[in-house]
Amino acid sequence: MDRVKTGVEGLDRILGGGVPRGSSVLVTGGTGTGKTTLSMQFLMEGLRNYENCLLVTCEEEPRRLYAEMKQLGWDFEKYEKEGKLIVIDAASTKAGMLTTTSYRDFQPRSANIDLDLVVLMGRAIKEYNVRRVVLDSVPALALRIGKPEALRELLFRVYSMLERFECTSFVVTEIPEGEGSLSRYGVEEFLSSGVVKLSLQKEGGRWVRKMQVVKMRGTRHDLNEYAFEITEGGIRLQGVA
Ligand SMILES: Nc1ncnc2c1ncn2[C@@H]1O[C@H](COP(=O)(O)OP(=O)(O)O)[C@@H](O)[C@H]1O
Ligand SMILES: [Mg+2]
Repeated sequence: MDRVKTGVEGLDRILGGGVPRGSSVLVTGGTGTGKTTLSMQFLMEGLRNYENCLLVTCEEEPRRLYAEMKQLGWDFEKYEKEGKLIVIDAASTKAGMLTTTSYRDFQPRSANIDLDLVVLMGRAIKEYNVRRVVLDSVPALALRIGKPEALRELLFRVYSMLERFECTSFVVTEIPEGEGSLSRYGVEEFLSSGVVKLSLQKEGGRWVRKMQVVKMRGTRHDLNEYAFEITEGGIRLQGVA
């Protein structure tokens, strides 16, 4: 099977080499657990291997996000300027501001994104032959949808499109810490071919970051939870055989 490396060495080992090509992986967990970091690491791995990438950012404005990622040693701005990282900035345009990215033609025009986003994503994927996609995050996107029912429809179309173009994707969602379900809207987990869950857990009086592959269609995988750290170079799992 054709595997796509996530860029997190331990995670790739858990998965037997990477996620199956064309997978849509849901990255879920509470706030501050490392969802954005994991997704950006997946994009950086693609960029370093000459794969064009699409980032749909709905929470963090691109310049701020790039500055945070620079702390981990990743220069996303460079790839954006080179036309290898295409950005749909649904964070700046939410506040009614112009995007700071080079992709003025790819920005949502109205406050309600609705199906506009599917058109923009499709155009970016075709024009730039995009291989990897990150959507961060579903709850932030939901704030820009006119009617709540429209979110399911939008997500359904986004996932169908990613499948049709055989893009490998990481989609971020959020669950309140300690809650049993895996996704906030219930649809994301069914549409996704894989689920990676991040959490913060208290162990012997200190908080530890944990990662677990809950589901990954088309491959065997380790179901254990692993502790990880966020350091220079990104996410590093501990104790993976
Ligand atoms: N340069 C860094 N070095 C170490 N840890 C960092 C660094 N930058 C951020 N972090 C940690 O990562 C957390 C945020 O991770 P992030 O991926 O944005 O989480 P999420 O998207 O799940 O909210 C921060 O709360 C902080 O603990
Ligand atoms: Mg985040």
